[in-house]
Parts: sequence; C-alpha cells; structure tokens
Amino acid sequence: MPSPFSPRFDRVTAIATLIAQRTGLYIREQDRAQLGRHLQSRCRTLRLASLAAYEQLLAAATPASDREWSGLSKHLSNTESYFFRDRGQFQLLEKHLLPDLITRQRPQRQLRLWSAGCATGEEPYSLAILLQRLWPELTQWDCQIIGTDINLAALAQARRAQYGNWSFRTLSADYQAQYFQATGGNQYQLADVVRRWVSFYPFNLVQPLASQPQLQPQSFDVILCRNVFIYFCPEAIARALENFAQALRPGGYLLTGHAELYGQELTGFVSRALPESMVYQRRSPRSPTPAQTAPPLPPLSPPAGPLRSPTPMPTDAVPDLKRELAIARTAFASKDYQQAAERAAAILAKHPQTFAACELLAQIHANAGDYDQATHFCQQALDIQPFALAPYYLLAQIAEERHQPAIAKTVWKKIVYLAPESAWAHYELGWLYEREGDRQRASKLYHTAQQLLAARSPTEALESGMDLTVAELQQTLAQKLTGC
Ligand SMILES: C[S@@+](CC[C@H](N)C(=O)[O-])C[C@H]1O[C@@H](n2cnc3c(N)ncnc32)[C@H](O)[C@@H]1O
Repeated sequence: MPSPFSPRFDRVTAIATLIAQRTGLYIREQDRAQLGRHLQSRCRTLRLASLAAYEQLLAAATPASDREWSGLSKHLSNTESYFFRDRGQFQLLEKHLLPDLITRQRPQRQLRLWSAGCATGEEPYSLAILLQRLWPELTQWDCQIIGTDINLAALAQARRAQYGNWSFRTLSADYQAQYFQATGGNQYQLADVVRRWVSFYPFNLVQPLASQPQLQPQSFDVILCRNVFIYFCPEAIARALENFAQALRPGGYLLTGHAELYGQELTGFVSRALPESMVYQRRSPRSPTPAQTAPPLPPLSPPAGPLRSPTPMPTDAVPDLKRELAIARTAFASKDYQQAAERAAAILAKHPQTFAACELLAQIHANAGDYDQATHFCQQALDIQPFALAPYYLLAQIAEERHQPAIAKTVWKKIVYLAPESAWAHYELGWLYEREGDRQRASKLYHTAQQLLAARSPTEALESGMDLTVAELQQTLAQKLTGC
C-alpha cells in the first residue's frame, strides 16, 4: 500500500479531489488505496505512463476525457435500488402529496415528477406504478416522470426495464404479477402500460440545470433524490439543491433519504417534519425574507390526517431515546414481543431514523414468522445505515426460510463483500453453491472459511450472540471438504 506521503498517494488524492469536483462523489480516506489500484489499472489499459498523465486526461475537455469520466462514474457509483424502496415516503406520496398536487395542477392538467439519481429505474417506475394504479386518467394530462443519472450503463438498464428478484425484495407478489412478465432466467419485464410514463436522461447533479434541456426551470412538482447524497461532499449537495430549487415549481416537494440533508443550508425550501419523512417544499421565489414572508403552505389533504406539524426536539431527546430503547430491548429479551414491538414502534414514530428500533422490529417480526414486515424493517434499517451487517444477516436467513436461494445468494454475497472476514458468510454461500451442484465454487468458499477460522480460538462464538462455536463450524467444514 502506498505511504500517505508518497508522490503516488498525492496523485490519487488529487484525482479524488477532481472526482469530487466533477461528480460530487466523496472518496473516503479508507477507500483511496482501492481507488489507486483502479487508476493504475486504467493507466495500464490506456497505456499511460503515470497517474499524472491520467489526471491530465481527466482534466482535459475532450471526447476521450468525457469517455473516461463516463467509465469512472460507472465504476464509482453504487446503483443499488429496488421497487418502492421507502414504504413511508411512497405512502406519503400516495395519500397526501400527489392528491394535493393533482388538485393544484388540475387547471393546467400538467404534472412532472423527477427521480434524480434513479440508477436502474426502480424508483421512477415505482412512481409510474403508483400513478397507473391510482390515477390512470393522468395519461390524458401532460404528465411525465423523468429519471436521470450520471451512470449511462444504469440508464441503459433502466430503459430496458428488465429486473431480477432482488429488485422486488419488498414488492408484494400481487404487484409483481400484475405489472411484470417473466422472460426466463429469473428476469421480469415491466409492462408497457407502466413504462410509457417514464423517460430517462443523463444528468450530472452538480452541473447546471441548463445542461439537460429536459429539466426545465420551475417545471417539476416532485423531486425524489434518495440515497444519492450519502456519497456526496457537502459542497456538491449544495449545488444539487440549487438545481432542485430552480427546477421545482413554487410549492413543489423534494424528498431525499432520511437525514441526507442534515446540517445542510436549505435556502429556497421550507422543511416539514412529517411522521413518514422530512419533506422540503419549494418557497415562492418572491419571498426575500423567508421567515416572515414564506407563502402559506397549501394544506396537505386531508388536513387533519396523519401529518404532524414539526415539533421541536426536546433537549433531553438522546437520553430519552436511550432509555426507551433499553426498555424495548429488555421486553424483547424476556420474550414480551408485543410490548417490545409497541415500544420500538413508538420510538420510530418520534425518531424515524433510529436504526436500533428498525433492527429490533425486524427481529421481532422475523421471530413471529412475519417475513414481509421483517424484510421491510431490515430495509428501513439499511436505508439509515447502508453498510450495517445485522440487517443483511437477517435478510439472508429470511430468504433461506422462504426457500428463495437466488435472493439468499445475493445477500450472502453482499455480506462477504462488506465483511470479507466472515467465515459464516463464506460457509453459507458455499452451502448454497453446493446445493446448486457447483462443487468447485463451494469448495473454494469452504477453504476460505477454513482459513479465516484458523486464526481464531476454537471455543469462541462464531458471531457475537451465536450459539455455534468456531470449532463446530471447523468440524462441519472438514466433513464438507471431504465430500466435495
Ligand atoms: C444508490 S443509487 C440510488 C437509486 C435510487 N434513487 C434509490 O434510492 O433506490 C445512487 C445513484 O446516484 C447516482 N449518482 C451518483 N453521483 C451522481 C451525480 N453527480 N449525478 C447524478 N447521479 C449521480 C449513481 O450513479 C447511482 O445510480
């Protein structure tokens, strides 16, 4: 690994700065060595003598530079997505935001929704499924859903509208059957009746809005930009927010991932804390001193529904939260699942971004065999902490329980990626391959698991809180490897 003081490391840091300026993506210190390896490999492929030459290529305004940026953006972006990813936000859209907007826009008969950073299209198509199901008459309007992304390969996949099981992980089987048709090889094609609502365009969120002619100023009613800013530096978020403020009609709504705008200047928006999510509503551009002159917010319909006006956070919120969590956990430990679930749900109603409450609810529902709810809370936990392992472990076990080997395999692979030191994950993945009859892959994974265990004490629990010990898994592995 290069020393932080070596010239090569400086060049990687310089390129990471260029990347942040151009794409908004912040490469963390701990990921720089990996970036360095990728850049070296690009230099070899392009026959460039040094990273300095590669940096020059990126900095140039040439078609070759644009091509390289396109490949680099693809390499750097996480395009993870799935249908109806945040159930709370989709309920908010369905029950309140869209009915309000449809009433408001009825005279013009025009509605525009933008999924910014749409990856492979699950998010804008979820919006389209919602409109198709509830307001099919909008096809008679000038109604458009636009998906944009910096990653051209993801956009090409979005346009194809073909998905595997992993994209349906929280979608009900009814919806899947109604809107998708199996095309073989575990792939499903989205129905044309939904596809026709959505168009896809390339757009880099940190570039000016005018660089994409489809994104007209003051033309959008809703912008969804979820799970994009978690990878951004604050300056890039500020630039994207300027674009969103420009693109929204006054009174239009911006939804982001939970806590993604924490600590960010929100000039141009009024923040509204609703039980399902924070919503940022575009102010009227004519209000120079927002605190006094912000236009009255149009009432969300129905006005007395589950929407709550913002309540100030009590100063002792954190100790309160800790105490509430401790009570919920104690109830769970003494198997009082009803009480534990009520406590955890009450925490989430007050503090929707509490990872531990989501994790606990996932566990409670899994224990009760309610795998849909358990999956939902695992996903909610992962939306809050995308790299947490516990929800993935639970998702993998749920998939096994449900006899969904394709999903189980995807999840175990993710765990292996996130925790390469996990012998258990290697073993489970090996076991899945063995059941498929792929002995070669199985044996490789078993060997890796064995090597990982060799460095550990035999009496140690395999994972914290697990009954199985290192020695027990070693024994199982030894038997498996003689059979492989
Ligand atoms: C994790 S996906 C989110 C997909 C979807 N919004 C969701 O929540 O399921 C993040 C996406 O942001 C895109 N992205 C990253 N930087 C971007 C930028 N500067 N401009 C536009 N899109 C960007 C990535 O290419 C990736 O497809």
